This record gives sequence, structure tokens and C-alpha cells, in this order.
Amino acid sequence: MLLEVTDVKKTYRDRQGQAVPALQGVSLGVAKGEFVAISGGSGCGKTTLMNVLGCLDSADAGSYRFEAEDVGSWPERKRAELRNRRIGFVFQSFHLLPFLTVRENIELPFLYSHQAERRSAAKIDELLASVGLEGMAGRYPTELSGGQQQRVAIARALVMGADLILADEPTGNLDAAMAQGVLDVFAELVRQGKTVVLVTHDPAIAARAYRRIQMEKGRIVSDIKERKEALV
Ligand SMILES: Nc1ncnc2c1ncn2[C@@H]1O[C@H](COP(=O)(O)OP(=O)(O)OP(=O)(O)O)[C@@H](O)[C@H]1O
Ligand SMILES: [Mg+2]
Repeated sequence: MLLEVTDVKKTYRDRQGQAVPALQGVSLGVAKGEFVAISGGSGCGKTTLMNVLGCLDSADAGSYRFEAEDVGSWPERKRAELRNRRIGFVFQSFHLLPFLTVRENIELPFLYSHQAERRSAAKIDELLASVGLEGMAGRYPTELSGGQQQRVAIARALVMGADLILADEPTGNLDAAMAQGVLDVFAELVRQGKTVVLVTHDPAIAARAYRRIQMEKGRIVSDIKERKEALV
């Protein structure tokens, strides 16, 4: 297993101090190379679960193991290191900086990581090719379609060497055709051995994953693994 959460619980408090249960005992194992789609109604805990899986947030109860290490109990500094090296995040909004070129946007995590060297131009070009954006390194985000901007965000998520991609509604701002194009990129990454977990409310997007998980009220209510291979 790449990652394994066991009986994870998380309760938020609202402004009145009322308990808002977000995760009510979630257990889930994801193997390396899996392509998982998580769906479920608004407020059922999808983002909360992704935040736990991504070490952005910790659970109140239960355990989180990443490659058998009990990362749930790690101090924040160590968790941040794991997050930076192994996990790439993709969100509904692309969060690209408009005054930076495509190349500079992709390099950003490198700058944030205080590494003196820059990612070599060849490495960035290779990443751009892998997301279908050959030759676009010098463009600015405003010169790209939404689908292309999301591909830049995926390349940025990969630049530190992440092998787990967590994508929360990555196609929420895209039309159907651009959404399918972004899914082509995820399918290709899975084919290369990366692990992709994405949240979507769109059945046509979930259908592209080969494992589909349904959540309701902070719990997993179904978990269907249909194919060994992703549909490319
Ligand atoms: N920071 C927070 N403070 C208080 N309550 C929160 C917080 N974040 C989430 N919640 C609550 O926890 C529950 C789960 O939220 P979560 O964001 O995980 O849902 P979701 O499945 O991602 O929903 P959506 O599809 O709308 O994005 C909801 O009831 C939400 O209101
Ligand atoms: Mg959400």
C-alpha cells in the first residue's frame, strides 16, 4: 500500500462552538499506481479527507500510514517534508501567478523550497511535454485556455518529484472537452506509475478512474474497483 488511513475521524467546530463532524470513521488503502475518483454530495467530507491524505491537516482519531510509516503522528516539519517531496496538489482554481511565465510558474515550488539550483530547462521542457504543453514555456497564463492552465498546474504539482497527485475538483472550472483533456493527462501519469486520487462530482470524470469511491456524511459508502487499467 502507498497509503492507508484507518478509522479516521475529524470534527470541526463552527463559530458557535457546535461540533461539525466531517469524517466519521474512514478507512481506505490506496496502492501505488491506482487511479481513484472520490464523489459524494457537498459537505460529505471529500476535501477534509484529501487534506488528511495530503498531510495538510491531521485527523482527530485514527491512523494514517504512508508507505507503512505512521505519518499521522509525525511532527509538522516532517510531514511538510513528505508533502513537499512526494505529494502534488491540484485544485479547482489553477492558482497560477499571472505575471510569471509558464516556465516560472512551474518552477515556483522549487523557489519556495529554498533550493539554490533551478530546475534545469530540459527538465521543465520534459514536464511540459508530459502534460501536452510542448513549446509553451514562455507564455503567460492569460495566453492559455483553462484546460492548458490546469495542465501547467499539474506540471507544477510534479516538479518536486511527487508520485502521489491529489486533485480536488480539478475539472470544476472546465468545459467537458477541456475536462477530458485534463483527465487524459492524469491517465497518462497513472500509466507512468504515478498514483492519482481525484475528487469530482461529475460521473463522466469519475468514469475515467478505475476505482470509484462514494462518500456520504463523512463515511465511505461504496468503493468499486472495476478495471486494472485506467481508461486512457
Ligand atoms: N474549517 C472548517 N470549519 C468548520 N467546518 C468545516 C470546515 N471545513 C469543513 N467544514 C465542514 O465539514 C464538513 C465537510 O466539509 P468538506 O469541505 O470536507 O466537504 P466536501 O465534501 O469537500 O464538500 P464540497 O463538495 O462542497 O467541496 C462540512 O459540513 C463543512 O461545512
Ligand atoms: Mg470540497
